[in-house]
Amino acid sequence: MIIFKKKSELKIYLQNIKAYKRTIGFVPTMGALHKGHLSLIQKAKKKNDIVIVSIFVNPTQFDKKEDLIKYPKTLENDSKLLESVDCDVLFYPSVEEIYNKNVVSDAFDFDGLEHQMEGKFREGHFNGVGTIVKTLFEIVTPNRAYFGQKDFQQLQIIKKMVKKHRINVKIKGCAIYREDDGLAMSSRNTRLTQEQREAAPFIYKTLKTARKKFGTENADIITKWVENRFKKHPLFKLEYFTIADEKTLETIKDKEFGKKYRAFIAVFAEDVRLIDNIRLKN
Ligand code: PAF
Repeated sequence: MIIFKKKSELKIYLQNIKAYKRTIGFVPTMGALHKGHLSLIQKAKKKNDIVIVSIFVNPTQFDKKEDLIKYPKTLENDSKLLESVDCDVLFYPSVEEIYNKNVVSDAFDFDGLEHQMEGKFREGHFNGVGTIVKTLFEIVTPNRAYFGQKDFQQLQIIKKMVKKHRINVKIKGCAIYREDDGLAMSSRNTRLTQEQREAAPFIYKTLKTARKKFGTENADIITKWVENRFKKHPLFKLEYFTIADEKTLETIKDKEFGKKYRAFIAVFAEDVRLIDNIRLKN
């Protein structure tokens, strides 16, 4: 695996790749890699000649400084994991390399997708995500880029950005990768205490029951049921639960035939924030 820290060096390498018309699969990450990331890389390996992974903890997408400081950084282990799945290139730039001295986001219009769910609770988050993903796409110039569906809103927003800004890359959304007990894999899981970690499958169990209920009950009743369930929980505080249209991400009241829906959840275990979602059957 070749490691680049400088855009200019990566660009020279890429000129060669492009000259031979080799395709590039790209997996942007913030490091603290887990099996979910590795599954994205393995998918990318199957479809592309070269796979590039970036590790960059993007400061502009964190609304709380503390969350940024506490974000796990495990470069040595990450490199080993990347080697184990035959990743071709790691791009590992510094904050200065990406932002120069101007660590701010651009302002994006994602046609309202940015105002739902995460956007209500994490101010400026999606401007930060849009800024870094667009910048990385400009540097890496991938043919395909791979994102997990755990961050489903992020995935939809990136698809919107690519369309609106006419960026020539195919966005591939990949299924959520779960631990054996159902907890969605996340770099933040390593920050859970043992007690929180053991209790955490409660989140996915709640989503699965919500999915069952969606067959017979309306969205409001299910939402109240979830809220009550969390009120009684000693370890987890619910930030939001919502049933939304997959396309607009707007909370729904009633089902309409032919539309696709998902249930979305964000939960705090003390200061560790976990999100998850599940596809619902209409
Ligand atoms: O999902 C993530 O890890 C990040 O939001 C991303 C897409 C790498 C941008 O920093």
